[in-house]
Amino acid sequence: MQSFDPSRIGLDDPVYRARRCSIANKSAGPSIARIGYTQMEHACWRAVLARLEPLHARHACREHLEGWRALALDRERAPELADLDAAIWSIARFRLQPCAGLLDARAFFSALAERKMPCTQYLRHPSHPEYTPEPDMVHEVVGHLSVLADPRVADAVQRFGMVAASADAHHLEELERLFWFSFEYGLVEEGGELRAFGAGLLSSIGELEHAFGKHVTIRPFDAAIAAASVYDTMSLQPVVFAAGSVDDLLDRVMDQLLTCGRRMRGVSALVQPDDRR
Ligand SMILES: [Fe+2]
Repeated sequence: MQSFDPSRIGLDDPVYRARRCSIANKSAGPSIARIGYTQMEHACWRAVLARLEPLHARHACREHLEGWRALALDRERAPELADLDAAIWSIARFRLQPCAGLLDARAFFSALAERKMPCTQYLRHPSHPEYTPEPDMVHEVVGHLSVLADPRVADAVQRFGMVAASADAHHLEELERLFWFSFEYGLVEEGGELRAFGAGLLSSIGELEHAFGKHVTIRPFDAAIAAASVYDTMSLQPVVFAAGSVDDLLDRVMDQLLTCGRRMRGVSALVQPDDRR
């Protein structure tokens, strides 16, 4: 039996690969280029949202649902990053920084430190609307921008970037893991139930169904343990961490940043966000 290799999604589709390349070239420019999404890409956006939104109604945290409403996106047509940039600036005073693909950790956190969210502009392969091995535009918009609309989250993300961008290699690895288990895969309690907060959960049909299924281990959110826990980007997450609330999660992450900053001379002074509002 042939096993499913998520890292190969789309690699055997030359039309998709050429389109990804074309969008990547546009994303590498100095300003946010309009992509002009194709009918197939609009259909992919529609198909993913049609399956994600019912899952969000059951499993997403209030911060996501409120942010998603505030963005007020068209479910029929994939949004242009240039329009989203204006929207998230007016809501959270964050800018969007187009990128061709996954950035290395230091570049990613350096952008966050400047209150810029790196965003890809391509969409996942239409044969697998439930999952993408790399962050696509759905991941950025549905996962990150929705919760970034909350000012507490926006400030915390910037603070995270400020500490991580200045971290040495050892602490940078720790902070990558902490970011993964909080802003990408964190769960929070809400009204006695667990809800999805992390972008990796909110933007993936497969991860959401898995996280609220029977085959996942849910541990109380401990930032030090999260920072020391390894993860695999190419499989459904076997272990996720749940905090008492979004505030609780952010407080625990900020405490860990302070701990990390104290261990690195001079960086703790940078933990106050640069409020550009
Ligand atoms: Fe992400």
